[in-house]
Amino acid sequence: MKQSFQASAPSNIALIKYMGKLAAETGSNRPANSSISFSLNGFKTHVRASVIDGVAEPFVWAPLRKAGLQAPHLSEHGRMRFLQHAERVMKRIGAGLPNGKSILIESANDFPSDCGLASSASSFAALTMAIAGLFESKLSVEDLADISREGSGSSCRSFFIPWGIWDSEGARAAEGLPGEDKLWHMALIVDDSLKRVSSSEAHKRVASSLLFRGRPERAEERLRQLMDCLRRASGNDGVHAWNRASELVWAESWDMHVLFETSEPSFGYMVPESLRVLSLIRELNLKYAESETYRKPLVTLDAGPNVHVIGWRDAQSEQMKDELMARVRSFARVEDGVR
Ligand code: PMV
Repeated sequence: MKQSFQASAPSNIALIKYMGKLAAETGSNRPANSSISFSLNGFKTHVRASVIDGVAEPFVWAPLRKAGLQAPHLSEHGRMRFLQHAERVMKRIGAGLPNGKSILIESANDFPSDCGLASSASSFAALTMAIAGLFESKLSVEDLADISREGSGSSCRSFFIPWGIWDSEGARAAEGLPGEDKLWHMALIVDDSLKRVSSSEAHKRVASSLLFRGRPERAEERLRQLMDCLRRASGNDGVHAWNRASELVWAESWDMHVLFETSEPSFGYMVPESLRVLSLIRELNLKYAESETYRKPLVTLDAGPNVHVIGWRDAQSEQMKDELMARVRSFARVEDGVR
């Protein structure tokens, strides 16, 4: 066992969404369908786990104070969930607390904590890694991802950079897809207030939508097609394959948001500015598509109002990016997720 261990993990944005759980009552975060995400190395959570003494509770949390990092605003419930996960990881890796000792968990993000970007995936992944590192666990990264999944489902994909796939066999790296050197990402933050409906609640409620019937099959099929398109995106018919990927990602984002809106009771995350961004993107795509080599960006919303855009690093797509940034400046804040 070490005295202290620090780890960091990126946030991720799903292109095929994990929405809906199997046997939700068991609390084990088994997804109704497979998902794939892109890890955002510009949005990381850092967690330091240390062995301390002189404290009554076995696990305590504090903000990690370091230059360039921002402490997350954890509610009492959030803090409990986080510390319970530390305990879970210790149990799963077979580690025990030495007599009279406690574990201090310090965490912070290297992206603004108040900007409406989810940090649960990055924070649970980093916490799992920090505890595993502290106790010098020899478990594989896939096994650690599986333990992390029990704390926060989507966190299991944050172990894999840049692409994480999560299916019935667990989470692993998705190979053969375009790397970070080929892509840019930006999050257009139109609303940074806290979610009124948590993602745990959303997972439950979507099952009440009539459109949830067929949803797992639809998502699996879309995932198959998306993987195929992304694999071909660097090849001969790359422009066509990438643009098809863009359509699939757009459809998937709407699919999830329509599930929210057709649940009983219905709910939703979009605000007028989300739609303003989407229609601007559509307008710019139409303009730039006059060139046959133009690659439309992949556009998706998480369970929130902010718009994530992943583009191909080439002159046209970056010009579109600059124009989009200039046109949203008055109502959206831009954060780069890939550094
Ligand atoms: O990991 P959770 O329970 O916060 O669920 C995340 C669900 C979405 O972010 C909406 C989609 C996804 O796959 O990340």
